Amino acid sequence: MKTLGIETSCDETAVAIVDGKKILSSIVASQHEIHSKFGGVVPELASRRHVEAMVPLLFEAFEKAHIKPSDLEGVAATRAPGLIGALLVGLTAGKALAYTLNLPFIGVNHLEGHINAPYLTGHEIPYPHIGLIVSGGHTSLYLVEMFGKYRLLGATRDDAAGEAFDKVARLLNLGYPGGPIIDKKAKFGNIKAYKFKTPKFRDSTGFDFSFSGIKTAVMHEFKKMKKSESHPRESGDTDNPQNILDLIASFQFKVIDILTKNAIRAAKKNNCHNIVVAGGVAANSFLRKYLSTEAGKEKIDVYIPPIDYCTDNAAMIAFVGEKYLNLGKSDKLSINASAVEEIGV
Ligand code: KG4
Ligand code: ZN
Repeated sequence: MKTLGIETSCDETAVAIVDGKKILSSIVASQHEIHSKFGGVVPELASRRHVEAMVPLLFEAFEKAHIKPSDLEGVAATRAPGLIGALLVGLTAGKALAYTLNLPFIGVNHLEGHINAPYLTGHEIPYPHIGLIVSGGHTSLYLVEMFGKYRLLGATRDDAAGEAFDKVARLLNLGYPGGPIIDKKAKFGNIKAYKFKTPKFRDSTGFDFSFSGIKTAVMHEFKKMKKSESHPRESGDTDNPQNILDLIASFQFKVIDILTKNAIRAAKKNNCHNIVVAGGVAANSFLRKYLSTEAGKEKIDVYIPPIDYCTDNAAMIAFVGEKYLNLGKSDKLSINASAVEEIGV
């Protein structure tokens, strides 16, 4: 079954065509350049750019997949959660396409797309497993009982992990989006230079996260550094002094260590031998190595999609949409977008 997917929940316009786990084409037009001067996504600009990018991207997706619109058998588009104006562009484009081609249409939850992205690598990941979504808007742990059945075990109480990366990068004047920049620079720093506390909750369900305290602690260290104006040591990174690189590396280590420990604890508690990780922060090179190593010590396997399918993409939306269409589900064309919508109970 050939399914077209559209994703426009934030600042990437993405279109893909899949046939089961086979990705026939997957194109992402990033808007990072537009938003970087503002240090974050400007919703109105994001929507406008999605409108401009949508039709050329659709043409490109058909061309790369070597198929015609009439070869399609279904259409899927991200329905929620995200920026409402941005979501509406992709959802409306998907509905219009389904209407003109007389095809079944399905709206897909963006988080469900992320959590299923590891399947796009062709792996058969056994159920139940633990799913960790770490993105710019979410940091949540799920017990994935089967496709479509997600039990929320814990979530962030303040900033999402990606949001913390972006905010710390802004604080240290590193640029936007912060995650990939911090990832690169952390390689030159000492992860043990600064010690940050692991947040503790009195009324915790056991698997919640919190990152805003660590972000504030980084801010205090940075202020202290600026005050003392110490002479920085030489480093392998030409733009930043060594003490900043150490701060970056220590911050990244703490965030990744919290994510890793929570995910492994959740797997052990729920008797799962597999963890899948998805969302933009799953592209982090340290997370990919560290989580696999630490989980390996407990005989737990870790599945993380290739980097292009960690960050926002439409292949994950087409894949999930196609699965639902194959199960006989579809949506009416009156379906609306929603800025907030969790998956799981
Ligand atoms: O999933 P995603 O593309 O969009 C959302 O649904 O939010 O995630 C974007 C987030 C941003 O906060 C970005 O800084 C972060 O993922 N990110 C990374 C890396 N690449 C992207 N964070 C850490 N290390 C990376 N290599
Ligand atoms: Zn995302």
